[in-house]
Amino acid sequence: MSWHRGLARLLHFIGLAMFLGSIFGHIALGALPGAEADAHSVVLSSLAVVHTTKTLTLPGLGLVIVTGVWMTLSYHGGFFRARWLTVHQVLSLLILLNSLVLLRPLGLQVLEVARGLHGPGFDLTSLHTLTREEKTFGAINLVLTLATIAVAVYRPRLLRRTPARSTGPEGLAAGKSPRT
Ligand code: HEM
Repeated sequence: MSWHRGLARLLHFIGLAMFLGSIFGHIALGALPGAEADAHSVVLSSLAVVHTTKTLTLPGLGLVIVTGVWMTLSYHGGFFRARWLTVHQVLSLLILLNSLVLLRPLGLQVLEVARGLHGPGFDLTSLHTLTREEKTFGAINLVLTLATIAVAVYRPRLLRRTPARSTGPEGLAAGKSPRT
């Protein structure tokens, strides 16, 4: 493996660590003891989610996408050449949409509601409605991410054959790699 392909893979994995690590961090924050004890704690834990989304989740996803496009164009002959890679990319696109269109605005809304909790009548009903939605779409993101990783790691036989070139016995005899 050339050094630049190794570098691209390394950065792809670092992006993945940032992205997936921050999702696990959000799950841990959701179960933080005392996080809903008072208005100040609610604001602080919502702020932690918004801040880590901005500094880890989205930059990690950006790094994964940039290095993924780099590897697709440089070492995999471009887009739509291998079925496993197309599935990998479509799943990533769903993750990107879910993160940008649903989760990021939800996190900001939760923070806004949390900031309005000061004063008498500490009512968490509207906050809980939003955090329930956040947990649902967060869980969908986690499942999509694990599926994306599984597709890349196992490259299932069903997804491995490409319309453009065969990786069956004839293709292999012609020197084509089964892990395109
Ligand atoms: C959240 C999104 C993503 C995750 C979690 C992810 C994860 C992974 C993982 C774990 C591998 C390593 C598989 C292995 O070496 O066994 C991989 C490989 C790969 N990914 Fe992604 N990826 C994501 C997005 C993307 C995107 C958007 C693209 C392209 C547009 C892409 C292109 C690739 C390519 C080309 C490889 C093969 C690297 C090689 O040549 O060895 N990935 N991905």
